[in-house]
Amino acid sequence: MKILLEPERIHRGIATLAQQLDRDYAGQPLTLLALLNGSLVFLADLMRQMQLPVQIETLRVSSYRGTATVPGEIKIPPGAEPQVAGRHLLLVDDILDTGKTLEAVARRGTAWGALSVRTAVLLWKSSRTQTGRRPDYFVFEIPDEFVVGFGLDYNENYRQLPQIAVLESADLSSPGTPAAVRAAAGDPATPEIR
Ligand code: IMP
Ligand code: MG
Repeated sequence: MKILLEPERIHRGIATLAQQLDRDYAGQPLTLLALLNGSLVFLADLMRQMQLPVQIETLRVSSYRGTATVPGEIKIPPGAEPQVAGRHLLLVDDILDTGKTLEAVARRGTAWGALSVRTAVLLWKSSRTQTGRRPDYFVFEIPDEFVVGFGLDYNENYRQLPQIAVLESADLSSPGTPAAVRAAAGDPATPEIR
């Protein structure tokens, strides 16, 4: 594994974003909608560095597994819809890769009654983004490499690392992990959102 971003640098980057959000949403009702599980560490740091009062909601999404879906076709169980009516909505995710995950959720935002819908990600793999939707806010733009740590996983592992590291082929030792191997090879897998 090769370290891409040290904890201190991540902390400073998130602090800068928190200040920008405090300015941009000053005096407005804001809900941070965290896409689980990858955004948990980022969300926890971001909200604690913001001065603005915010509410949080969570939504479980998954990608790089299951059958392909088209962006916009997302299934959310009854009762799991976030409560965002009359509030500005900021979708928070760990990484914007192809962009399909956030695109699909963002389309739902207005139907939930949000006043506005924007996206904030810790990492943006800009060279892979297919949807033409760049994140409204991002902390770091990174090259097309498969990264783990600070909430990001490889097969649900490594989320707890305090730094962000590039997963190298030597790390892909365990069999039965087609998702991450495919991602590492650059195949634009389509996410499935439940
Ligand atoms: P998108 O829909 O292609 O933008 O994918 C976003 C999701 O894919 C993220 O929330 C992650 O769960 C996953 N993902 C994409 N790239 C990486 C990576 O480099 N490491 C770990 N997870 C990733
Ligand atoms: Mg994720």
